[in-house]
Amino acid sequence: MPTDPTNAILLQRIDRHEDLALFRVAYKDHDVPEFEPGQFVTLGLPDLTPPDPSKPVRPGRGPKLIRRAYSIASPSTQRDALEFYVVRVKKGKLTEPLWDIPVGGDLFMNPKIGGHFTLDGMSAGRTLVMVGTGTGLAPFRSMYLTYRSTGRWDRFVLLDGCRLARDLGYRDEMEAAAAADSHFVYLPTVTRESEDSAWAGRRGRVNALLEPVAFEKTVGVPLDPATCSVFLCGNPQMIDQVEADLNGRGFVTKDRKHPEGTLVFERYW
Ligand SMILES: Cc1cc2nc3c(=O)[nH]c(=O)nc-3n(C[C@H](O)[C@H](O)[C@H](O)COP(=O)(O)OP(=O)(O)OC[C@H]3O[C@@H](n4cnc5c(N)ncnc54)[C@H](O)[C@@H]3O)c2cc1C
Ligand SMILES: NC(=O)c1ccc[n+]([C@@H]2O[C@H](COP(=O)([O-])OP(=O)(O)OC[C@H]3O[C@@H](n4cnc5c(N)ncnc54)[C@H](OP(=O)(O)O)[C@@H]3O)[C@@H](O)[C@H]2O)c1
Repeated sequence: MPTDPTNAILLQRIDRHEDLALFRVAYKDHDVPEFEPGQFVTLGLPDLTPPDPSKPVRPGRGPKLIRRAYSIASPSTQRDALEFYVVRVKKGKLTEPLWDIPVGGDLFMNPKIGGHFTLDGMSAGRTLVMVGTGTGLAPFRSMYLTYRSTGRWDRFVLLDGCRLARDLGYRDEMEAAAAADSHFVYLPTVTRESEDSAWAGRRGRVNALLEPVAFEKTVGVPLDPATCSVFLCGNPQMIDQVEADLNGRGFVTKDRKHPEGTLVFERYW
């Protein structure tokens, strides 16, 4: 298993706010290998917490790596670096020190890219309903930017559910893309903006937008497993609730037994 904590370099960090940022990371010795949009890569940093004196010392070994998975937010056509969309978790073992790396600083990025949360096996011409909470938007950005000119879907409907408007980290880009692309529908919604805030857009959890009447009214077509496939990414409770709801409405979760499934998900924790 590769463990070099200096095999990659932080090229750029773009802050959306103090706890939300885009990280651009490159391998030092090679380009990004081929990958499918929707896949993730593991980032790592040395664990600098003082060693437990009751545990045996591992001679000749450096500090252990703290590793965490991150969905690739950039398109698979971009191979000089990868972009990640990351929220800082309070007291998070990796995200707290990740914010301390200066531009030009070292980190570990696994040379092996993995994951099955992709459009693989999805037939063309469907309505793809992509539901992200928080940074769960990342894999959908990669899919959209990679395939937007390829006729891979009839409609790409992106639900972006965040606590606050400032957490909608790709909102400007997605709104501009939707304005230019009649096959792309972008639906941001926020849950914790105060009533008197400047936010004039949609409010409430993504689940409300998936209700049959609300979906058809907003998107213009019914949310029907015959024509739509649904991808969920982010908060595990959102995934459990939406999966239960949509299984009851005829969507079959994709797995080994059901490779033709119309519901696919990626839990972030
Ligand atoms: C396949 C995959 C892809 C992922 N892609 C992304 C991504 O693109 N962007 C991103 O920000 N995160 C992503 N994650 C989550 C990421 O791997 C880490 O779990 C997260 O950054 C927290 O790590 P940490 O060490 O700072 O927190 P830890 O010290 O490991 O604490 C994690 C705990 O914090 C809580 N928590 C609160 N919010 C989150 C959150 N957003 N993610 C994880 N845990 C949370 C949970 O209770 C969790 O148990 C992904 C996870 C998986 C499995
Ligand atoms: N300090 C900050 O400014 C700040 C900001 C954001 C995040 N964070 C950190 O980042 C972590 C992750 O936060 P996040 O905001 O990215 O993710 P999150 O807590 O998962 O929230 C993202 C969106 O998902 C919604 N959601 C939660 N449970 C749901 C469910 N069961 N069904 C449908 N929607 C659901 C939330 O709605 P609700 O609002 O109704 O829960 C919110 O709109 C937090 O634990 C925190 O540590 C910090």
